[in-house]
Parts: sequence; structure tokens; C-alpha cells
Amino acid sequence: MNIKTIMVAGSGQMGSGIAQVCAMANYSVILHDLKDEFVEKGMQTITKNLSRQVEKGRMTDREKAEILNRIERSTELSNAEKADLVIEAVVENMDAKSQLFKMLDELAPEHTILASNTSSLPITEIAAVTKRPEKVIGMHFMNPVPVMKLVEIIRGLQTSDEVYETIEAVSKKLSKVPVEVNDFPGFISNRILMPMINEAIYAVYEGVATPEAIDEIMKLGMNHPMGPLTLADFIGLDTCLYIMEVLHEGFGDDKYRPCPLLRKYVKAGWLGRKSGRGFYSYN
Ligand code: CAA
Repeated sequence: MNIKTIMVAGSGQMGSGIAQVCAMANYSVILHDLKDEFVEKGMQTITKNLSRQVEKGRMTDREKAEILNRIERSTELSNAEKADLVIEAVVENMDAKSQLFKMLDELAPEHTILASNTSSLPITEIAAVTKRPEKVIGMHFMNPVPVMKLVEIIRGLQTSDEVYETIEAVSKKLSKVPVEVNDFPGFISNRILMPMINEAIYAVYEGVATPEAIDEIMKLGMNHPMGPLTLADFIGLDTCLYIMEVLHEGFGDDKYRPCPLLRKYVKAGWLGRKSGRGFYSYN
């Protein structure tokens, strides 16, 4: 299947990063969100990232302008009628995603593939609200999208081989490394990452060590680029809690119970970097 135009639904941290890498790979991109101001904020992030590449001499001003020109701003979901592929990157909530996929299924042409950047929600369940479950697939990018090489590709129960192969080829064209996984809670990335982060939070909760000490141990001892608590703040503590809840409910196993300290921080509005406070303070 030939993909020329990609709609990215959701222009937040992940959506803007996805739109950027798609435009850099010569795709025509439609960056969609509910309000102009959200789309504008996404465009600003992309512009800032590209300007950094120009400053570093890795890209010319002209190339930057061409990439930006390939991105159309959208607040009308009906623009999905122009897309061969839609990558959804909205809030991590099953109701929001189901509603969006139902609408996209009605608006997008029959051949259009509908992909979700969900970090843990079941692709099979998202696909079931559409009349094209064979064309629904998970395309899980990592944050920050322009830097991280991985795209975890999740096959729903009914995803066709043709759709999988198309998405694998698109991921490679984005200069990413696609890795195939089946549809189980948290897939692979978050099934392994989140319990580690949750355990680090338990270690703070139980007074085993300070967040600084825990992060230093994992950075220096395990060669992780960021310690687990810095990474939790970076991902967002609300997202970490949500994913732990998906794992806990999905497997029905208490080994995935979210740490009470994580719940407390989220209730207090300490969501990490984005709210200015998490395990660390950000000014
Ligand atoms: N957007 C674009 N580029 C960024 C960026 C961002 N938000 N943050 C950093 N970069 C770029 C920098 O410009 C720099 O580029 P060059 O090397 O080309 O100059 C490069 O990344 C390295 O940045 P820094 O030197 O500033 O900092 P660093 O070496 O500490 O790297 C990092 C920053 C890449 C974020 C690194 O700390 C890292 O890899 N951290 C772990 C990230 C990670 O684990 N991500 C996965 C999170 S889990 C997830 O996303 C899935 C989920 O479902 C929750």
C-alpha cells in the first residue's frame, strides 16, 4: 500500500514529534487537534527542534522551510478524507480513543490505515469500534520522538499482514527501527519499563534511598541515560499511573499494583516535568 499523506491526530508532545519525523521523511502531513492553539503549540515545538538542527549545521534554512511547508494545520477531523494513514496520539484514555476511531472510521477513505500511538491500551479493543479492524494497528513511538529509534508495532487480533508490512515500511522510512509485538497489556516496552519505575517509587516510599541516590545507581550502575525517577517525571506521573493501572487490571496480578506514593503525587497535581513538580522540581 502506498502511503503519501499522514494525518497525526493530537498535537501534543508525542503528536508533534511524530508529525515532525513524518514531514522530515517527505510525507505530506496533516497535524490535527481540537483547537488552533493546540496545533500552533505543536508547530512551535517542531519549529524549535528544526531550528536547533539548522544551528548545528545539520539542516539548511531552506530544508527547514520545506519540512514545515509539508505540514498542514487542521482542526477539522474531516481532513482525514485526504489521509492514507492516520496516527492517533491523543490523551491516553479508552473512551477518548474509541470515540476518535469511530469518527475516523466514518471519515477516512476505505483504504486508510488507522494507527494508534497508545502506550498500553489494547489495539484489539480500539479496532473493534471500527468496521476495518484489519486496518487498525499500534504504532508506539518513544519520547522524545525525533531522538528515539524504536517504533513498537502492535498487531491487534485482526490486523492484516499487508497492513503490518506497510507500517513496518513506513517506520523504516521514518529512519526508525520497527519491532513487532502482540497485543497484551503494556505490550513489551511498558510491561518492563513501568514496573521498574514503580519499584523505584516504592524504594522512595519505603525510605530505602533518596530519588537522587536511586537515579544515580541506575545511571552509573546500569548505564541508563536517565534514572527511573527522572524518567518518570519526563514521561509524566499521571501517564505512569495510568499504565500501571492498565497492567494491574489487564493481568489481574497484584505484582503490578501502583505505589501509593505515585497515586498521592498524581492527586496532588505533581505530574513531573510538565507541571513543574514531580520527584524533582523544575523551574
Ligand atoms: N526533542 C527533540 N530532540 C531532543 C529532545 C526533545 N525533547 N531532547 C533532547 N533532544 C536531542 C538533543 O537536541 C540532542 O541532539 P544532538 O545529539 O543531535 O545534538 C540529543 O537529543 C541529546 O540531548 P542532550 O545532550 O540535551 O541530553 P542527553 O544526552 O541527556 O539526552 C535524552 C536526552 C535523549 C532524552 C536521553 O536522556 C534519553 O535517552 N533518555 C531516556 C529517554 C527514554 O527512555 N525515553 C522513553 C520513554 S518511555 C516512552 O516514551 C514510552 C511510553 O509509552 C511511556
